[in-house]
Amino acid sequence: MNTPSIPNLASGGILIEGLRKVYGQGDTAVEALKNVNMAVAPGEVVGLVGPSGSGKSTLLKCLGAIIEPTSGRMTLGRDVIYDNGWTTPDLRALRRDRIGFVFQAPYLIPFLDVTDNVALLPMLAGVPNAQARARALELLTALDVAHRAQAQPSQLSGGEQQRVSIARALANRPPVILADEPTAPLDSERALGVMRILNQMARQAQTAIIVVTHDEKIIPTFERIYHIRDGQTVEEAGEGRAL
Ligand SMILES: Nc1ncnc2c1ncn2[C@@H]1O[C@H](COP(=O)(O)OP(=O)(O)O)[C@@H](O)[C@H]1O
Ligand SMILES: [Mg+2]
Repeated sequence: MNTPSIPNLASGGILIEGLRKVYGQGDTAVEALKNVNMAVAPGEVVGLVGPSGSGKSTLLKCLGAIIEPTSGRMTLGRDVIYDNGWTTPDLRALRRDRIGFVFQAPYLIPFLDVTDNVALLPMLAGVPNAQARARALELLTALDVAHRAQAQPSQLSGGEQQRVSIARALANRPPVILADEPTAPLDSERALGVMRILNQMARQAQTAIIVVTHDEKIIPTFERIYHIRDGQTVEEAGEGRAL
């Protein structure tokens, strides 16, 4: 197995060191993460692959400040966000400003149309409405779903909803994007289209992106892949096939 060099994280990216997560206590405790170590450079898209129950979702939830790890260290950009405890009291701001999520289920807001679902976070962050909507339409176009811009989420197919949720994760240009099985409901061409957009975003905005997947269609696109098994990570060189 080939171990590529640790990326330069001076200007951003993600660093995870010795991360551990135990759910519950005593006899019923489950050690979901034992010793996770990962580094993702700014501008890089890495894959995270592992069998069901190996800790992939737990890792993304810890990194996304949705659940609290048990111990270890996590750094986003220049800031240590967790060091055997959160370093900031404002986890909502951390999630809103630093991290874009793409979940397995799209979780779109049912009473907003597609454009406003994508434009909402930038608007909340103070971007003028017209500008936020223009940016939303640009992303919807790139994700091949602009023809649904005025539709309500309930009128879309599962694949369309997923592409809208990816546009939403990119809208705020967060320095970190965490995607849990983002291409599962998509056909081959659209799955590769999503990977193309994520790679473009990484390059243009120096975003660090982790994609949890077992989708054979997209695995050949990664230059580096972390395998997780029983809560421990191993790094491997991928094929990095151009998109
Ligand atoms: N909220 C929870 N409470 C207790 N155990 C959990 C919880 N969430 C996940 N687990 C356990 O942690 C382990 C890792 O789960 P998960 O992170 O969902 O794995 P994956 O996403 O790779 O399928 C599994 O054994 C799972 O049963
Ligand atoms: Mg999972």
